[in-house]
Amino acid sequence: MSIDETAVPVLAIDGPGGAGKGTISRLVAERLGWHLLDSGALYRLTALAAGKYGVALDDEAGLARVARSLDVVFVAEGEGTRVLLEGAEATTTIRTEQVGDAASRVAALPAVREALLQRQRDFRQPPGLVADGRDMGTVVFADAPLKIFLTASADERARRRQLQLREAGVDASLSSLLKEIQARDARDMQRSVAPLKPAGDAITLDTTRLTIPEVVDRLTELLTERGLASAI
Ligand code: DC
Repeated sequence: MSIDETAVPVLAIDGPGGAGKGTISRLVAERLGWHLLDSGALYRLTALAAGKYGVALDDEAGLARVARSLDVVFVAEGEGTRVLLEGAEATTTIRTEQVGDAASRVAALPAVREALLQRQRDFRQPPGLVADGRDMGTVVFADAPLKIFLTASADERARRRQLQLREAGVDASLSSLLKEIQARDARDMQRSVAPLKPAGDAITLDTTRLTIPEVVDRLTELLTERGLASAI
């Protein structure tokens, strides 16, 4: 029996890189027992696979073919999700700055976005989905009953990124990270197709001065208030 996908609640979380979407989305999904879509990972995997097959980052038709035939598996594991590309470990490789930069270029191409659309919608399964990205509320799940636009100042996002890198043993200057963040923001917001912007009916949440548990609590409260999840 097929299910009516539109009856499955979606919490759409959009916003710029470094606002905490990944961590927050994972924690909310865990708390509710909902599925999780990390849509950015699909763009990153497309960029990675394109590199592997020698497809140039301006070959839109070739990149769309790569996106359509991506053989990817997400495996929930402990605190995170393991990502396999064609059966091979890609969890950490897709998180590098180089792949992130290529992903941002690939994501600006309409044919690539179209090729990944249904794959993203297929994540909408009972009892619910937390969808993390840039166009979750505006395009992919435009009918989502709760849309959040998660932001933080560029300075704060650079600071968080520096901490994250430091934990991984990598030293990076705050000013270079800030520049990268600003360049990525500009590209994501200025592209002609599905640019990063809040949906008209999204609630904007600035996390600059909020802790992760505060944001997770606020989102579960909003879901409960709207009758989308029982009080947790
Ligand atoms: O969230 P992230 O850093 O993993 O995303 C990688 C790139 O993909 C980023 O430049 C924005 C782009 N992206 C997008 O255009 N649409 C999405 N739904 C998710 C990510």
